[in-house]
Amino acid sequence: MSTIESVLQENRVFPPSAAFAAQANVAGMAAYQALVAKAAADYEGFWAELARQHITWSKPFSQVLDESNAPFYKWFADGELNVSYNCLDRHLPARADKTALIFEADDGTVSKVTYQELYHRVCQFANGLKSLGVQKGDRVIIYMPMSVEAVVAMQACARIGAIHSVVFGGFSAKALHERIQDARAKVVVTADESLRGGKAVPLKAAVDEAMAMGDVDNVQKIVVYRRSGAAVPMQAGRDLWWHDLVKGQADSCEAVPMNAEDPLFILYTSGSTGKPKGVQHATGGYLLGAILSMQWVFDAKPDTDVYWCTADVGWITGHTYVAYGPLALGMTEVIFEGVPTYPSAARFWEMIARHKVTTFYTAPTAIRSLIKLGADLPRQHDLSSLRLLGTVGEPINPEAWMWYYEVVGQSRCPIVDTWWQTETGSNMISPLPGATPIKPGTCTLPLPGIMAEIVDETGHPVPQGSGGMLVIKRPFPSQLRTLWGDPERFKKTYFPEELGGKTYLAGDSSRRDEDGYFWIMGRIDDVLNVSGHRLGTMEIESALVANPMVAEAAVVGKPHEIKGEAVVAYVVLKRARPTGEEAKKIVAELRDWVGKEIGPIAKPDEIRFGDNLPKTRSGKIMRRLLRAIAKGEEITQDVSTLENPAILEQLKEAVA
Ligand code: PRX
Repeated sequence: MSTIESVLQENRVFPPSAAFAAQANVAGMAAYQALVAKAAADYEGFWAELARQHITWSKPFSQVLDESNAPFYKWFADGELNVSYNCLDRHLPARADKTALIFEADDGTVSKVTYQELYHRVCQFANGLKSLGVQKGDRVIIYMPMSVEAVVAMQACARIGAIHSVVFGGFSAKALHERIQDARAKVVVTADESLRGGKAVPLKAAVDEAMAMGDVDNVQKIVVYRRSGAAVPMQAGRDLWWHDLVKGQADSCEAVPMNAEDPLFILYTSGSTGKPKGVQHATGGYLLGAILSMQWVFDAKPDTDVYWCTADVGWITGHTYVAYGPLALGMTEVIFEGVPTYPSAARFWEMIARHKVTTFYTAPTAIRSLIKLGADLPRQHDLSSLRLLGTVGEPINPEAWMWYYEVVGQSRCPIVDTWWQTETGSNMISPLPGATPIKPGTCTLPLPGIMAEIVDETGHPVPQGSGGMLVIKRPFPSQLRTLWGDPERFKKTYFPEELGGKTYLAGDSSRRDEDGYFWIMGRIDDVLNVSGHRLGTMEIESALVANPMVAEAAVVGKPHEIKGEAVVAYVVLKRARPTGEEAKKIVAELRDWVGKEIGPIAKPDEIRFGDNLPKTRSGKIMRRLLRAIAKGEEITQDVSTLENPAILEQLKEAVA
């Protein structure tokens, strides 16, 4: 686990090798500095030039950044483009027969899809959606396994201007219901089941359950992709099979010209209140962020690279670095249905060897668990194809970083530790692998044009070395445009008045070292980062108190060796505080309950029962205290304002 102490002691530096730098898209620090200087000298000109260079516009833009209605910024607002056109059509003249996707199924079956085939499949599905009445601006929920079809569905929406909202297949029916409702989706695209680690996950059943929860009259059709072949009930008039929908559809379909500011997708993420936020991204700026980061951070070489980002399309990483970025560059990429530990903890290494992966992007939590399950396994596989490694989602502790660097990357591959968020759409702070000297545990420096800083509560920069709030001072193309249906919450959350209303507040704390490198220290809000997944403590609390047994609940995080953070729930039952076997039984019930309310990833790792929760005299739960208790720390805090100090002893006891 990365502690601030271990991070502060870190002083190893690994400059890019001469060989890597020689072939890099951005070669050497001077080249990086030149880009940074260019952005500083002419901010709009910098972005405009890149947008013209890398995106194919059906109508060129003349406006660049529009700040007139801050913080509702607009980019390239009079330009028109289509993201699917940029990912598919424009590659066909030169790359029709090039492999776009290498799909490896859970059971190891491999299939490949060329750009030409992918284009046809996307067009057919887009025509299918149109035949169901889906029009520009309509919302489509995608609740799918990792599959070629998931990417096809996303690209098809982009092609006809429908706004997709992908819901991670691990979320429960209840969570799905909430998102279907909030987005007012017209169509849901799902599969009979997904297969992960040899186990079937019933997706269609969850959709049926969500539909039965009611108040979803907005949904007209449910499209079901047959993955496992399991028997699933199909409701006449509402449900139809994917293969029936695409049968007979034309294999070309106009890529509808979209305004650069038209929404491309909504992706729900956790915030500090109970209700998930629908992060809304725009067409033009988002695509630009995806493309530039592929160029700069992943040093994309479309003709020779085999790119593999292990993220699920249910998360932002799976949007930008699976469904859009690599395709926009015309790369070959791997898509993996399964889990890193099945059939063995060597799966990733086998796959890298099998597909000759050059660029591998995963999460620190996966790295830590694979170290534990077989630190030596990578050495038993041919990983010589690798040239670049990446991590995302949470701070990586230097120990895990060193293993990744030495054992997986054989001390040859730079590691890009990429800091970004659902809201930023693409990488914000990261080494450029042919330029930035890297150090274990830091995401290093902002990408060119990203004006990241660390400030105090009043918005003033903190002295070098001190911790503060991570902000981005200037609007950037790939940032979220608003929260779906909740512009007020958007303003309050990301552009608070205290910081002047125009500075993007990321919600992380960070410090900078003597080289100006950013060291992310964690969230400043009530958001947990469990295995790289964002979970709101309030979300889990609401789920717990929805259980008829529970009177009150408070949730905090505690450091966890593999997952980064673990979920600890303090629960007051309506009945007397349980002990022994009864307590164990209730813990199991409550964990299952949270699994059903949100999804298995949100299940508390630990539940502790009390007759009450520690509160101030004004009734506020003292979370800082709960965090200290969860960590097993001596309580040194002043508890004199505590209404009920005796409660602390009870809460120190975790149910075994
Ligand atoms: O706390 C930061 C952490 O993940 C949060 C964003 O979560 P999410 O929107 O789910 O997106 C994850 C994938 C982009 C951030 O606020 N985080 C992300 N990347 C890093 C990180 N923390 C430290 N280092 C990173 N490289």
